Amino acid sequence: MRFSTLILSASTAAAAPFSYPLANGFPNLNATAMAEVYKLAGGTLPNGALPTSLKAGGTQALQLIAANEEFEVAYFSELLANVTNDVPGYDVEDKDYVVKTLTAVVNQEQVHVLAANGVLANANQTTIQPCQYNFPVDNFDDAILLAETFTEVVLGVLPIAQSLFAADGGDESALIPIVGSIIAQEGEQVGYYRFLQKKVASSAPLLTGGAPQFAFTAISQFIVPGSCPNIDAIGLTAFPGLTVETMPKAENSTQLFSVEGTVSASNATLVYISGQNLPVSVPISNVNTQNGTSFFFAPFPYDAGFNRGLTIGALVAGANMQFNSTADVAAATMFGPALIEVE
Ligand SMILES: *[C@@H]1O[C@H](CO)[C@@H](O)[C@H](O)[C@H]1NC(C)=O
Ligand SMILES: *[C@@H]1O[C@H](CO)[C@@H](O)[C@H](O)[C@H]1NC(C)=O
Ligand SMILES: *[C@@H]1O[C@H](CO)[C@@H](O)[C@H](O)[C@H]1NC(C)=O
Ligand SMILES: *[C@@H]1O[C@H](CO)[C@@H](O)[C@H](O)[C@H]1NC(C)=O
Ligand SMILES: *[C@@H]1O[C@H](CO)[C@@H](O)[C@H](O)[C@H]1NC(C)=O
Ligand SMILES: *[C@@H]1O[C@H](CO)[C@@H](O)[C@H](O)[C@H]1NC(C)=O
Ligand SMILES: *[C@@H]1O[C@H](CO)[C@@H](O)[C@H](O)[C@H]1NC(C)=O
Repeated sequence: MRFSTLILSASTAAAAPFSYPLANGFPNLNATAMAEVYKLAGGTLPNGALPTSLKAGGTQALQLIAANEEFEVAYFSELLANVTNDVPGYDVEDKDYVVKTLTAVVNQEQVHVLAANGVLANANQTTIQPCQYNFPVDNFDDAILLAETFTEVVLGVLPIAQSLFAADGGDESALIPIVGSIIAQEGEQVGYYRFLQKKVASSAPLLTGGAPQFAFTAISQFIVPGSCPNIDAIGLTAFPGLTVETMPKAENSTQLFSVEGTVSASNATLVYISGQNLPVSVPISNVNTQNGTSFFFAPFPYDAGFNRGLTIGALVAGANMQFNSTADVAAATMFGPALIEVE
């Protein structure tokens, strides 16, 4: 499946967009509904003291987490409804178990939203309100692959939130183990999504890192333009897309990419982020620009130590650019992220 193409087609999806509130009133839950969410989620919000102040980096991290979890609540609510109602393409084996698990996920993601926005509110910072969304999938298999992929993108960015909380110090230190527990929770989910696809359940020893800009871009593709009350408060901007036209296998190869824009082999470098390794830079070649879309080829050096599971690609300005960190790659990105799943 061509991921970015799927993602880019989101805005043209025919079905009505997903809109809040949920049937239980979420994002505004009364006490009865809240108790039901905890029951179905299998646990509660943390009940220890929350920070009373947040610095700019910690605030942005929590706002991005809130926006992402709101997208996930929407996605899994719609997926659960599709499976529950036997929508064509969503007839699954072992339906009762799938419904039970997705019900837990929908409620767990609601708790994640309330956790992130609750910390923001307690520190008198802007909470993030949900948008309307369109999802570029119409069957269970594609929906599970997409869930695996965007959850892995989030798993790449949550450790960066922990780094920001550690750097800010003070009250924010209390958030580090809480976010750590959310990382593990999302990891449990990915193991299930991979199991459903009959992939090896745990993909790699160290999962792929990321950057806030990449996570923000990934969720932006699903948002109905103009439907967000205040997502701009986060202060991040989505990159224009980088599409993998051909999906690599687990071997060294050459792949075709495209971007909406004009690039040249003499002023661009394709950079991969895979595992916790240094970014890998490769040249692009055979650029062919037609009607504003540029197609080009680039090596995909999987055997150079890439992860099974997610690898992120980004097209940066300048030839032969080398980077020592994913943050530096994100800062130089023109087009991205390409979300490449190998096995
Ligand atoms: C709580 O919210 C639910 C869902 O909107 C609603 O059905 C219920 O009547 C509410 N209960 C109270 C006590 O307001
Ligand atoms: C649910 O099914 C509808 C109809 O096929 C589809 O448009 C939508 O994208 C699906 N949503 C998810 C999350 O699978
Ligand atoms: C909360 O933030 C608002 C807007 O920034 C400000 O006007 C208000 O004084 C703050 N309240 C507290 C208790 O810090
Ligand atoms: C790269 O080269 C293309 C083609 O020559 C040009 O249109 C584009 O503006 C250049 N981009 C940068 C960032 O220099
Ligand atoms: C470019 O646009 C022209 C005019 O719309 C169209 O005739 C042509 O087929 C397009 N070329 C490609 C490669 O899409
Ligand atoms: C794969 O490509 C990398 C980078 O070019 C190279 O170092 C490695 O030897 C290649 N491995 C195989 C098995 O071709
Ligand atoms: C990356 O690290 C190496 C080794 O420390 C250093 O020589 C190089 O200048 C660094 N490159 C960049 C782009 O920061």
